[in-house]
Amino acid sequence: MRHLQPMWRLTLACVVCACGSSADGSVTTQPPPISPDTFALRALAAARGRRIGAAADHGYHLQGSDGNAFRSVLAREFNLLTPENDMKFDHLHPAQGTFNYVHADSLVAFAEANNMKVRGHTLVWHQQLPGWLTAGTWTARDVSLIMQDHITQVVNHYKGHVVSWDVVNEALNDDGRMRASFWFNSLGRSYVETAFTAAHLADPDAILFYNDYNIEGINAKSDSVYALVQALKLRGAGIGGVGFQAHFQVNGVPPTLQQNLERFAALGLKVEITELDVRVPLPSTPQSLRDQAADYAKVISACLAVANCDAVVMWGFTDKESWVPSVFSGWGDALPFDASYGKKPAYWSIYNALK
Ligand code: G3I
Repeated sequence: MRHLQPMWRLTLACVVCACGSSADGSVTTQPPPISPDTFALRALAAARGRRIGAAADHGYHLQGSDGNAFRSVLAREFNLLTPENDMKFDHLHPAQGTFNYVHADSLVAFAEANNMKVRGHTLVWHQQLPGWLTAGTWTARDVSLIMQDHITQVVNHYKGHVVSWDVVNEALNDDGRMRASFWFNSLGRSYVETAFTAAHLADPDAILFYNDYNIEGINAKSDSVYALVQALKLRGAGIGGVGFQAHFQVNGVPPTLQQNLERFAALGLKVEITELDVRVPLPSTPQSLRDQAADYAKVISACLAVANCDAVVMWGFTDKESWVPSVFSGWGDALPFDASYGKKPAYWSIYNALK
């Protein structure tokens, strides 16, 4: 059956996309004249040598009230899955010496049953740490051993099932200095290299990422990340990539995104867009959703233009389930599917950019 959708067309004055664009430089968000399900995003991404992903959790999402709809769209459209919360420290390691893999294992099983790869997220982060760890009285040596043991056990558990890990997440402030955190305060900046070394020893085949936000464009923070990962690479710490989270406000994609990805790629690292969403003021309007679609196209096109950019992952896929409204009051509708799992203009702009 032919899929009927409204037609959208929007003009991007400042971006010329290599694909999904017409001769006049406009980006089309028009559905293609064939059944789109036959050529879901994952097939188009694979044809471009890329993976397209989404974040999800076992309990809230796969087993949630919309489980069937959620699972079928996730499996149909995406070939990469990031656990939104299920692999964080407090979820996997709720008590000292006790690991709970039940939810994360279910997520991995779902991915494997649907021929999707898994990005592990995240081994060392300043948030979502369990009370037993943060409230404990430890020496620096204790903390280092706990961190390394956590990494070793978790990476070992998922060896062969998780292709890449966000080993260290959000270690820097926006001014480029190290973030004061449980890890930094206990161990100093060396914890970053220690974490990568432990992960690399546990699974030399996994691609190990440093992941952060506000580093998508060239700025003080991305300069600092550049220096950090360059040093890690020179020291042979096992780093393989940098994740650019890409939590954007509408019309907020930095113009230096592609240039920034290129400089990190030139270090011999993979670059991935790891948590993409584009929030708009609520209620959204036809215009804000067109602007959002243009932003998604810019990100996909930047990744396609950089050979080492092999994946774009969205932080969810439906506006029904997103972290955005609870953190940015008055903002939302940040994803390419609406709350009823309908395809928004952003979906078609991603589709056409990949095509
Ligand atoms: O599990 C509890 C549940 O028992 C309780 O009833 C409920 C009530 O608030 O909270 C549930 O936990 C919440 C959890 O998400 C699962 O939904 C936490 O309170 C909440 O803080 C947690 O938020 C997550 C956040 O990371 C934690 O900082 C978001 O879902 C998740 O999207 C967000 O993801 C981060 C990335 O990991 C790193 N980059 C930024 C990104 C957005 O903040």
